Amino acid sequence: MRKVLGRVAAGVVAMVMVTGGCAMFEDERTSKGRHLYRHYCMHCHGETGQQAEGFNWERMPDPRPRDLSESAAMSTFTDEEIFNTISREMRDTSLQSVLDDEEYFAVATMPTFRYTLSEDELWAIVGYVRTLHGGSLTFDVEGRRAQLESQFGAAQSDHDQARQVMEDALAKQEAEAAAAEDESDDDMSEDEDDEEYEEVVLPEEEAYEREAERFALAKAAWENFSKRPKMDHMARPDLTVTETEQHKLAEEGKNLYFNQYGCNGCHSIGDVGGLVGPALDRAGFRLNDTWVYRWIRYPQGVKKHTRMPNLGLDDHDARAVTAYLETLRAPKPDHPVPPPE
Ligand code: HEC
Ligand code: HEC
Repeated sequence: MRKVLGRVAAGVVAMVMVTGGCAMFEDERTSKGRHLYRHYCMHCHGETGQQAEGFNWERMPDPRPRDLSESAAMSTFTDEEIFNTISREMRDTSLQSVLDDEEYFAVATMPTFRYTLSEDELWAIVGYVRTLHGGSLTFDVEGRRAQLESQFGAAQSDHDQARQVMEDALAKQEAEAAAAEDESDDDMSEDEDDEEYEEVVLPEEEAYEREAERFALAKAAWENFSKRPKMDHMARPDLTVTETEQHKLAEEGKNLYFNQYGCNGCHSIGDVGGLVGPALDRAGFRLNDTWVYRWIRYPQGVKKHTRMPNLGLDDHDARAVTAYLETLRAPKPDHPVPPPE
């Protein structure tokens, strides 16, 4: 198990960190990573990555956020492993198959950032996390950038070329068809009914389709590297369902809330749960359900720099979680009545 790791070198590492983490020697990427870390990670993992330092740490359910300054454990992870942890898909950790997947980091309360940040930014964060335990990034980010950019450029020119070839072939086909029609016009007398030309898909058209697909993929990979993910404007969802369906959805939503998206890592219900976002005990009274749906599917669409990451909920999951939040209707906290004078 990856989680069972010692604390042997922690003391030594702490010393290295004091000098190693010095901001003066930071390159541009590390400094970008520091900035992002402070915005998205610090509340749980602490400013210097030390356990129990982040204000949210104590309120979190088990397992609590890992100590990112502990070299003995952290140096056993490759850069790619850290990258994958912070950019994985959220999966339902109440399922045994998910817990059994050795490749998967199954802690719902460690959020994903794949729907919030660009790949470039994610690498910057990994680089900064490395400095917290006296390490440094070895993954070749510039190489990756260059590779994606050149793949994009090559796919684009192949695509343009394939389109030209296809257009030429189509023009030729049209000219031939027109010529054939002229001919048949001449001997109209022999054959009354014009034979219809069968729609033929040219190999050049098929080749173009393939290039267009390849180009779309290369473009998406390149944009995903360089830009933050964006979603289209979301139409107002129609959330009306029958009462029985609503009940079922809310049950499902409750499981998603705790076991898949780890909302409880940042939000509290009663005395339980994190304090990064507002308490949700009274969400059912306070918040409008269409607003909630849109917020949880795409927080950045509502508030660009919110600390709440987009956790990648699809339409169904957002409906279910919204239905669950609608059931949260705790009474107003009692305000102690001041004693009579
Ligand atoms: C809501 C609190 C929370 C936030 C925000 C958060 N984490 Fe975590 N993180 C956790 C928890 C909980 C764990 C699980 C610890 C464990 O399994 O021992 C964890 C584990 C990790 C691990 C260890 C993974 C492993 O394989 O053991 C890394 C690395 C990490 N987080 C990095 C980050 C980075 C970088 C950010 C910001 C981009 C971040 N975390 C934001 C709660 C959080
Ligand atoms: C990493 C922490 C984090 C996680 C995980 C997280 N949230 Fe949030 N949430 C926030 C923060 C911070 C805010 C405050 C938004 C702001 O003003 O920028 C917020 C705001 C909200 C609000 C608006 C509350 C209000 O009273 O205005 C709702 C509703 C909400 N989150 C639901 C969820 C749900 C549901 C999930 C799980 C799918 C979730 N959040 C996961 C941090 C988080």
